[in-house]
Amino acid sequence: MGVLGIIGGSGLYDMDRLSDVRAVDVESPFGAPSDKIVRGRLGDLELAFLPRHGVGHRLSPTGINYRANIDCLKRLGVTDILSLSACGSLQEDMAPGDFVLVDQFIDRSRARPLSFFENGLVAHVSMAEPTCSRLRQKVAVAAKALGIPLHEKGTYLVMEGPQFSTRAESHLYRQWGADLIGMTNMPEARLAREAEICYLTVGMVTDYDCWREGEAHVDVSAVLEILVNNAKTAQKLVADAAPLIMEERSETCEAGCDRALEMAIVTHP
Ligand code: ADE
Repeated sequence: MGVLGIIGGSGLYDMDRLSDVRAVDVESPFGAPSDKIVRGRLGDLELAFLPRHGVGHRLSPTGINYRANIDCLKRLGVTDILSLSACGSLQEDMAPGDFVLVDQFIDRSRARPLSFFENGLVAHVSMAEPTCSRLRQKVAVAAKALGIPLHEKGTYLVMEGPQFSTRAESHLYRQWGADLIGMTNMPEARLAREAEICYLTVGMVTDYDCWREGEAHVDVSAVLEILVNNAKTAQKLVADAAPLIMEERSETCEAGCDRALEMAIVTHP
């Protein structure tokens, strides 16, 4: 049936509704993941939870070993990932507390390994549709039923951080058509695609970054305040979306995420 992986972002360091909980150490040739991966059950479903920044928030966006994280989830049999991420909003109508199902990325990260492919093996996977449309549709159904303020599409700009953006950058990203800003979901989405795992970023808006007239520019205290509520909402959303995603899952992903490498490896055997 597959295993649903949950990557928890800032404010989401565990899942509160799991039974049969086991913390497992997984090894990867790419190094150590952010923390132990927590296996557990939600009804009949197998889940694997990984806090992206480590429990206690020890890892900065640049310090996260994205390759180890995705590789370890893959080794545990994870077929689908919901990546929950605190984000700034670059659009008036995406307010703190809103959830956004990300369908596109603009990647401005610049200090992270981007690919599993190296040492003489080259692959070019498609990133035209970087998130899984099936996951987006299932999460939208669950979010609407829960009455969560939801945007079914959005473009997430990934910055390197750890500092927030300058005002000029924030305005520039708005001109580029970005809706959200965050520091972590690339190269995570790229690596999930290379690992042939269905992947969706659920952006949880915490602030208006620094572009908005009359609004205090983002700081950590503002983000933390809204994070707590967003994390509670996220727990409910995962619990309701998981059965929709996993119980009706067919052998193959209709969006093709599980076959991303079929036409991608160019190195001659
Ligand atoms: N995470 C939450 N808010 C953010 C912001 N404004 N910029 C970058 N990452 C964020």
